[in-house]
Amino acid sequence: MADEPLVLGIETSCDETGVGIVRGTTLLADAVASSVNDHARFGGVVPEIASRAHLEEMVPTIQRALDTAGIKASDLDGIAVTAGPGLAGALLVGVSAAKAYAWALDKPLYGVNHLASHICVDQLEHGRLPEPTMALLVSGGHSSLLLSADITTDIRPLGATIDDAAGEAFDKVARVLGLGFPGGPAVDRLAREGDRKSIAFPRGLSSAKDPAYDFSFSGLKTAVARWVEAKRRAGEEVPVADVAASFQEAVTDVLTRKAVKACKENGVEHLMIGGGVAANSRLREMAQQRCDKAGIVLRVPRPGLCTDNGAMVAALGSEMVWRNRAPSSFDLSADSSLPVTEVSVPAATIEHGDLHAAAHLALG
Ligand code: KG4
Ligand code: ZN
Repeated sequence: MADEPLVLGIETSCDETGVGIVRGTTLLADAVASSVNDHARFGGVVPEIASRAHLEEMVPTIQRALDTAGIKASDLDGIAVTAGPGLAGALLVGVSAAKAYAWALDKPLYGVNHLASHICVDQLEHGRLPEPTMALLVSGGHSSLLLSADITTDIRPLGATIDDAAGEAFDKVARVLGLGFPGGPAVDRLAREGDRKSIAFPRGLSSAKDPAYDFSFSGLKTAVARWVEAKRRAGEEVPVADVAASFQEAVTDVLTRKAVKACKENGVEHLMIGGGVAANSRLREMAQQRCDKAGIVLRVPRPGLCTDNGAMVAALGSEMVWRNRAPSSFDLSADSSLPVTEVSVPAATIEHGDLHAAAHLALG
C-alpha cells in the first residue's frame, strides 16, 4: 500500500554492510556487501577489517538500494539503523551514516535492536507477526529463545547460550574437519551425505535439572574435536560426513526441542526461527516435524533474510513508524551489548511514571 511507511534500514553489526528498503511489510531492496572473504584467512571476523569495509561500502550500498527500489532518498519516511548489539566499531559506521542521512534529509531516525530485527524480518515473507510469537534466534553471535509480545516494544528473553553460539559451534567444528570459514553451510552440505545416527554426541543442558531454555554448545564442540582427534591418532580415516551429520543432529535436536517446549509451556502457538543458522536444512526439517506434531505454526524466513541484512532493520523501522513509536534522538550511540529488552533506543514507550523515576535517578 502506498500509504505504508517507506523506510531505509542500515545494518553494520558484524561483517555485512546491509541496506534494505521496505514499504510496510513489502521488501523493495536488499543490498548487501559482505567482507566475509577478507576474514576467511583469519578463521573469524576481524573487527577492524569489518569497520573499514563498512566505511568503503556504505555510500555505494545505500545508492544501490535506492536504485533497486526505484525511489529517491527524499521519498523516505524514516531511516532505521542497528544500534546494537554487535562489534562497537562496526556499529558506529552504520549509526554515523544513518544520522548523516536522517539529518541531511530531515527524516526521523530509529536506532533499533539487531535481535529484534532478526525476528521482524519474517514480516517481509509471511506478513505481520502474530502476538505473541516465540523466536529462536541462532547465528554466529547469538542463540536465544525470545518471547515477542510486541515486536516494537516488548521482547522477553527466556533463555540463551551460556557459552558458544550455535553458529560458532558450526564454525569451530567445520575448522576441526578442515571445511573452511564460515563453516555452517559446508557442514550442512556435507551432512547430507552422512549418517546422522552414527555417533552419539552429547546434548548440552538437556537433563531435568538443567535450565529449560538455556543452551550450551561448548561441550559438544569439544566432544567432536576429541572424537576426531582420537580417530586421527589411531591412524584411522575420519568419516567427515558422519561427524558433520551427527554433530548437526545434536545441535538441531536441542534447539528444536527447547523451542517447542518454550512454546508449549508459555501457551504460544507461533514459532519463528531466525539468524544465520536458520538456513540449516536439517534444522528447518526437524523444526517443521516437531511443530506439526505439537500444533505450532512455524515461520522461517528464506535463508537470504535469515543472515544479517539491511532489510530486517528496515522491516523493524517500518513497523516502528506504522505503530507511531518514538524515534531516537540524534545523540543516539552504538551499544555493543544492547540488551534485547531494548527494542529501540530510547525505549519506544516511556510511561509517564517511568520518566519521572528516570528523572529522579538522573538527579540523584
Ligand atoms: O546471522 P549471521 O549471518 O551472522 C551473525 O552471526 O549475526 O549468522 C552467521 C552464522 C555463521 O556461524 C554460519 O556458519 C552460520 O550462521 N550458518 C549456518 C548455515 N548458514 C550459515 N549454520 C548452519 N547451517 C547453515 N546452512
Ligand atoms: Zn545477526
